[in-house]
Amino acid sequence: MSLKALVLSGGKGTRLRPLTFTLAKQLIPLANKPVLGYVLDQVAETGINQIGLIIAPETGHYVKEYVKDGNEWGFKVTYITQEPLGLAHAVKTAKKFLGSDDFIMCLGDNLQGLGLTTYVKKFKAKNMDALILLKPVEDPTKFGVATLDDNNNIIQLVEKPKNTQSNLAIVGTYIFSSKIFDAIDQIKPSWRGELEITDAIQKMVDMGYNVKAEALNTWWLDTGKKDDILTANAKVLDQYAKQQIFGTVIDTKIEGRVDIQKRAKVVNSTLRGPCVIGDCCVIENSFIGPYTSIGDGSKIVDSVIDYSVILDHAQITGVDRLEESLIGKNAKVTKNHRNGCLKLHVGDYSEVEI
Ligand code: TTP
Repeated sequence: MSLKALVLSGGKGTRLRPLTFTLAKQLIPLANKPVLGYVLDQVAETGINQIGLIIAPETGHYVKEYVKDGNEWGFKVTYITQEPLGLAHAVKTAKKFLGSDDFIMCLGDNLQGLGLTTYVKKFKAKNMDALILLKPVEDPTKFGVATLDDNNNIIQLVEKPKNTQSNLAIVGTYIFSSKIFDAIDQIKPSWRGELEITDAIQKMVDMGYNVKAEALNTWWLDTGKKDDILTANAKVLDQYAKQQIFGTVIDTKIEGRVDIQKRAKVVNSTLRGPCVIGDCCVIENSFIGPYTSIGDGSKIVDSVIDYSVILDHAQITGVDRLEESLIGKNAKVTKNHRNGCLKLHVGDYSEVEI
């Protein structure tokens, strides 16, 4: 039986506004590459080549523009449009694509350190119907949570419990057999109107199917919920940043792992890694500090930037110190030296700290 992948790239993304007004949340870049790109890399590593990509009516075209026909990863991609009515609803919507095959399900805005292949092997070897991954979290009330007995058997799964003894959150990677459909047919929407995958897995346990849980022994990022983008960007730069220079560098000091991409021009500046400077960027008389990603086509002049994510085609001029900041596409930040006043032109749902 072949194994497929179902990657969820739909949803509303309300928590990540304003960025998600012009971007699907799975396309938010970490070290200048969309989160979804890393997820697809991990799926490709397992050898799976048939993937179903769940997209939302509002943001699906952004996802399609990025993934295209999936050739970059060696995939045959089937796009499946879904109204965001829950993760189990997404699985149900993909029934025709999945057929009777086993499948790995990944959330397009979640990323974990270790590859997926180890889990796929375990799932097959032990003839499982569901394999979930668990990770301790500080505030389990925001997650699907599992309670295990002393032998690591699942006793109970609850979505966003108000009170719980367990701190084990269900990570956004799951492997299922087609028995998941029997369970989804028997569950009802939750109080928030969604068909919850946690309820479906609980139903599989109740039905006596072979459901197992594994501890995830590596990092896990959830950019849609748990982790803010700056933390996630820092984690990914730490893990993946390379020391490579494709652009032009003049009179510039480079320290640590600095990645300067094609056609970028860096003049009279200091760059301290891990950081990444995108295609066609211009950096002049500036300092770019560790854990910073500068998106393609951005221009940084006479400025100091540290621990920040600057999206594509932004312009930052004369800013003495910009720290822990997230600057959207085509945004401009300029220090006005003339009269010291602030002139702001800030979009909906933005946050500015002065
Ligand atoms: P969530 O972060 O749980 O949901 P959301 O995207 O609606 O976010 P928000 O609450 O901020 O509005 O979704 C987890 C992942 O699954 C994310 O990549 C979006 C995707 N998803 C779907 O594809 N279909 C769905 O019905 C839902 C709820 C999520």
